[in-house]
Amino acid sequence: MDRLYLEGPCTVSGEIDVQGAKNSVLPILAGALLTDQQIVLTNCPDIRDVRATFQILKYLGCSVDYDNGVAVICAAGMNRSEIPDALMREMRSSIMLLGAILGRMGTARLGFPGGCELGPRPIDLHISSLRRLGVTFLEEHGFLDCTAAKLHGADIHLALPSVGATENILLLACVTPGTTRIFNAAKEPEIEDLQNFLNAMGAKITGAGGSTITIEGVEKLHGAEYRIMPDRIVTVSYLAAAAISGGEILVRKACPPHVISVTSLLEESGCEIEMAGEDIRLRRRGPIEAVKQIRTMPYPGFPTDALAPIMAYLTLAQGTSIFYESIFQNRYKHVEELLRMGANIKVEGRVAIVEGVKKLTGASLVATDLRGGMALLIAGIAAEGETEITEVSLVERGYEHMVRNFSSLGVKIREG
Ligand code: UD1
Repeated sequence: MDRLYLEGPCTVSGEIDVQGAKNSVLPILAGALLTDQQIVLTNCPDIRDVRATFQILKYLGCSVDYDNGVAVICAAGMNRSEIPDALMREMRSSIMLLGAILGRMGTARLGFPGGCELGPRPIDLHISSLRRLGVTFLEEHGFLDCTAAKLHGADIHLALPSVGATENILLLACVTPGTTRIFNAAKEPEIEDLQNFLNAMGAKITGAGGSTITIEGVEKLHGAEYRIMPDRIVTVSYLAAAAISGGEILVRKACPPHVISVTSLLEESGCEIEMAGEDIRLRRRGPIEAVKQIRTMPYPGFPTDALAPIMAYLTLAQGTSIFYESIFQNRYKHVEELLRMGANIKVEGRVAIVEGVKKLTGASLVATDLRGGMALLIAGIAAEGETEITEVSLVERGYEHMVRNFSSLGVKIREG
């Protein structure tokens, strides 16, 4: 999809099921490489990053079938261990495949991932951790040549609780002889989902969700069927869309405990929230109150991926909200686009000061990144008049069936 048009303001109302989590399915798809038996994934989201990963898996020699949220993958025919530059660039998280390719093939050759729209995205922690397990690296002509000649378990202390590095260690260590312990591991729910999936394949991993994870290497993994957990960021994006519109939404098939850092903020700003089982209901009748301080933090703190959608919502608050981004350098690219709609935001380094305004007006906008693009869509729902958003393919990396889903909630949205 090239561009989207919204006609605002609209009131979001209705019910919607949450898709499977992008950040969970990507490392799990990497895990499918670790066995020559069949892997069946349900609740697999229909998003561009998943399709790009399928391309890579096929290039590596796997069979992939995808229909109606069910992916069937078989890596029995895997006969390559390198990812060409073009496929690497298509998939920003392809570094995630490194541990799994090494675990299966003993060698891997990847194009160096370089920067992305969130600023530089270093992989030093991935490299130093896998090195502790016995992997050797050679960096040449923009490629990373990796060899796992003699793997062994190890104690790995992460300087930062990197989500990707923790996942890469899990993927390699589960088929590496001996015991590996990760200290200062990332605690994101997606790590626990990966642990549960790998254990369903016969791995022996404990502790995910906490800061120490223990992995007893096993010789072989087998096929499995697994359901991908709900996407936390898609969940809060729907909630923010309903909140900015003064509407009411029932988000179903969610995992409420995963999004409490965001729902408590939404409550603080004037929304009513009810949680029961897998359901989250949000209603906003009164004005939006500003939230004094929002600091992005590793889980269970406020997620960096929720910053842009929540900022869009708070542009219409009464008072001043202050954001501090502590994870990535470049999370504010969408701000310039929100300014074009009449928002009042000042950015100084990692701080963004959002002075609430009375109204937003539709404008011609460019999606700058995945979550920033969703922020524009959310703002467009509340803005007066037509909003055009281009570069929508960036948003499609992580959100499935946007036109269908938002239309079903009463948003006047169409593809251009
Ligand atoms: C994952 C998520 C992304 C989310 C992020 C933080 C996926 C596919 N993506 O990204 O949506 O925004 O977690 O919750 O799951 N760092 C280093 N060296 C490294 C690795 C990371 O310095 O080797 C730094 C990064 O620059 C960043 C911080 O660590 O400042 C966190 O990054 P990390 O947790 O690794 O994020 P990703 O796994 O890339």
